[in-house]
Amino acid sequence: LRTTYLARVADAADAGMLEEVRLAALGKKGEISLKMRELGRMTPEERQTTGAALNRLKDEIDAALRAKKTALDDAALDERLRGEWLDVTLPGRPRPAGTIHPVSQVTEEVTAIFADMGFAVAEGPQVESDWFNFDALNIPPEHPARQEHDTFFMHRAEGDDRPPHVLRTHTSPVQIRAMQETGAPIRVIAPGRVYRMDMDQTHTPMFHQVEGLAIGRDISMANLKWTLEEFCRAFFELDEVELRFRASHFPFTEPSAEVDIRCSWEGGTLKLGQGDSWLEILGSGMVHPKVLQAGGIDPTKWQGFAFGMGIDRIAMLKYGIPDLRAFFESDLRWLRHYGFAA
Ligand code: PHE
Repeated sequence: LRTTYLARVADAADAGMLEEVRLAALGKKGEISLKMRELGRMTPEERQTTGAALNRLKDEIDAALRAKKTALDDAALDERLRGEWLDVTLPGRPRPAGTIHPVSQVTEEVTAIFADMGFAVAEGPQVESDWFNFDALNIPPEHPARQEHDTFFMHRAEGDDRPPHVLRTHTSPVQIRAMQETGAPIRVIAPGRVYRMDMDQTHTPMFHQVEGLAIGRDISMANLKWTLEEFCRAFFELDEVELRFRASHFPFTEPSAEVDIRCSWEGGTLKLGQGDSWLEILGSGMVHPKVLQAGGIDPTKWQGFAFGMGIDRIAMLKYGIPDLRAFFESDLRWLRHYGFAA
């Protein structure tokens, strides 16, 4: 028995054959198992000698099976290692990698510049209540400014008594939310998406603005001017900037100013910083007392400035991009052309 099984173990060429040998010898109905069962019919003396012998045989075959199994596994691994070798010196195949969208890049740049000047980031919802978007900003229901905003209104089913909502037409409602949350003093910017029904080379129905708000005991237009000049110097990477504050009107600021940056057009290309032309870049002013009140701030104790700037617009100026719509078409050729994708 011993010689037969040890020979069969030695001859097994793979794991399957080895298993057959194991079953034939040690399986439930294996030859050795059956012999073990016969022990019951023997005399105690016979049982002692035969039982011990059978146990030894069982252990021996078992050990042989294990050793053979290890040997077979090693051989299989060696075989695989010989077959599946990998040339690690082969150069990788390049795969196209995604990049950060230019608008996100510019938003990050803008945020970093204002962070250096102590401005935190505030946020608000894009579906905004009509109160935050207009009323709180001193634009009551019949105010003509409401028409100028080309507003997208959210549909309300009959019987829906929730307050009317719009897609926010500017980031200014975040001024109110930030004031209500933090109180005075406060220094925040609020970058984000805004919506107006408009579409041409320089307008898309969705675009991006960044709002600025600084409220303190004696914050003035002079602080506004310095802040915007510093921003333009850093953002447009200019040694010299000149800004022009042009009197204007916004319901939520008094006085209000539209701000132009000095520039020139050389052979059709825009050059910022010097020249004899001006280009409008943002709207600004001193926060209207009624707006402070809507934000829960006492206008007899606090004052400050606010501004609103088109992020896509300043991105177009910085990178010399003539058509705003291209920003939102995800055309890889366009993104590559302006260095926004590899
Ligand atoms: N909210 C104004 C707009 O969208 C910009 C602005 C913001 C002007 C803050 C003044 C102060 O045109």
